[in-house]
Amino acid sequence: MKAAVLTKYNQVEWKEVEKPACKPGEVLIKVNFGCICGSDQHIHTGEFHPRTTLPLIMGHEFGGVVSEVGEGVSGWQVGDKVAPDPIIWCGKCPACLKGHYPACTSLKLIGIDMDGGFCEYVSLPPSMLYKVPANIPDEHVALVEVLSIGCHAKNRANVQENDSIVIWGSGKIGLCILQAVRTVTDNTVFMVDIIDERLAIGPKYYENVVPINAKNEDPVERIKQETDGKGVDIAFEAVGHPEAIANSVNPVTGCIRSIVGGGKVCVLGLAAEPTDVVFRELIWKEGTIVTSRVSHGEFAEAIEHLKNNRLKPEALISQVLHGSETQKGFELLKENPAENIKILLDFNAAE
Ligand SMILES: NC(=O)c1ccc[n+]([C@@H]2O[C@H](COP(=O)([O-])OP(=O)(O)OC[C@H]3O[C@@H](n4cnc5c(N)ncnc54)[C@H](O)[C@@H]3O)[C@@H](O)[C@H]2O)c1
Ligand SMILES: [Zn+2]
Ligand SMILES: [Zn+2]
Repeated sequence: MKAAVLTKYNQVEWKEVEKPACKPGEVLIKVNFGCICGSDQHIHTGEFHPRTTLPLIMGHEFGGVVSEVGEGVSGWQVGDKVAPDPIIWCGKCPACLKGHYPACTSLKLIGIDMDGGFCEYVSLPPSMLYKVPANIPDEHVALVEVLSIGCHAKNRANVQENDSIVIWGSGKIGLCILQAVRTVTDNTVFMVDIIDERLAIGPKYYENVVPINAKNEDPVERIKQETDGKGVDIAFEAVGHPEAIANSVNPVTGCIRSIVGGGKVCVLGLAAEPTDVVFRELIWKEGTIVTSRVSHGEFAEAIEHLKNNRLKPEALISQVLHGSETQKGFELLKENPAENIKILLDFNAAE
């Protein structure tokens, strides 16, 4: 079979590799579409080294159909649409024993810690698979993983119908949070970013989304103005770096300053550097900080919403390339983030 293999950092090659056998207790999946994640971009440049070992078949966001059912597997049939949850938790560490799987101390993902789904076939155990109704287009099955991250963040922050929201970062994750939030509330959602093209996406697909370019105006001031001085109930941080823009504050501080007394900040950005935060501002508001990591069963929720047309996966897809053009996909994401949110990779069509 063919696979997009990271043979050295910054270089993906479209190569012939051995097709996996359908092992007993597993299901062989014909991959239809994959999707490049922000983490993949970091893996590509080598920032996940030595966690990643080369050569590596990348890809943890993908979907496909069952092409073979291994010995001893029940409940799956050839032709079933499937979205694999790439996360492997140990089930034994203290976090797992508390049922808090996203915090597993030896959490692993296929496509990062082992070969993944940017290829034609993958063999996986049914415990990692979610069945997808036939009415969901193949392209959208590849987005279930990232949409489930938005749903998990929405659930971690416990968004309610009357909540007003700000999402700092209108990128891949921020836009998935917006979609998840919209399954609960039609209230105002402010979206903060520094790229106008990315800020244009939310209002194009949803009403009552207010874009704020932090390069042009102070988001905290604007949010206060638009909420009669109160602020929002929940602020999500989905930027991922601690730097402040000129004349403004860093994203986490922006979130803290934007919430109403008793409000909540949900942090998702995975910056490695410290963020300057004055806790007094949060304490005076008696605000809550929660974090959100990957997902915890929200595949089922994302699939249910997709089935009922309650999400807008098309809003995330910037372009579709063939799997053989995976390297080009990484280059486009790096060179032109204004016009590329999610790049889908097609592992079906002829090269
Ligand atoms: N917690 C999780 O489960 C989880 C999952 C996936 C990704 N992440 C992390 O979330 C973060 C965002 O990921 P992404 O894939 O959406 O990245 P992205 O690059 O697509 O989006 C980030 C957005 O923030 C904008 N931005 C940059 N500086 C800004 C600033 N000062 N103010 C406002 N906006 C600003 C960028 O223009 C961009 O649109 C990353 O740190 C990523 O590692 C977390
Ligand atoms: Zn991802
Ligand atoms: Zn564990």
